Amino acid sequence: MKIRLDKFLSSQNIGTRSTITKQLKLKKVVVNNQIIQQGSFKIDPELDRVLFDNNIINYCNFIYIAMNKPQNYICANKDKSKQTIIDLIKEPFANSLHIVGRLDIDTTGLVLLTNNGSWTHSLKSPNANIEKEYEVTLKDDITDEMLIKLKSDIFLDNKLLKKVRIEKIYKNTCNIILTEGKYHQIKRMFHYVNNEVIKLKRIRIGIFNLENLNIKEGEWTKIII
Ligand code: URA
Repeated sequence: MKIRLDKFLSSQNIGTRSTITKQLKLKKVVVNNQIIQQGSFKIDPELDRVLFDNNIINYCNFIYIAMNKPQNYICANKDKSKQTIIDLIKEPFANSLHIVGRLDIDTTGLVLLTNNGSWTHSLKSPNANIEKEYEVTLKDDITDEMLIKLKSDIFLDNKLLKKVRIEKIYKNTCNIILTEGKYHQIKRMFHYVNNEVIKLKRIRIGIFNLENLNIKEGEWTKIII
């Protein structure tokens, strides 16, 4: 299948679309021995020989997936007794994927998967501060005192958590935004203020919003990066 040269170059992590446009103008890109300066030029990644800055690009067809995880599936590639989210992807490439930020078995919502290790790293790196937004339903109503405590310093496993953003939606529901992902973090934070999470759903990771992706629970879609 033919695709635009600029799209191909960005899929191979050569740079952003705008830096690629500059590099094309600087005559850094050669396709089948011919300098190409137009990003709109169409190539077949499987067949054409593309050089960037005199280095051949070994085409790597990365896969990026967004899934709406249902309850009772675990975020793992294999398990002896439980169903995994990989089981929901009935494709030959399923086992090459890794999970970018796990959810607990009873948590639903957005999970990203890929076979591109550097993309995983860029999203999971602690310095990246990628926002993860959750809808939380609690056993008891959320009090002002709880909100104050949740917004101030909290230690888990003797480590200070990064500040969270939290917005009360209704008596016992709220949205919370984290920029890290410690083990059972949200459940433990609410336990700390003497409440209990009874339902948890991740609705956003960075720019990827479950609502815009329009995927039903248990389903997944390929995303373009
Ligand atoms: N925090 C939790 O407690 N569980 C999750 O699945 C995600 C965040």
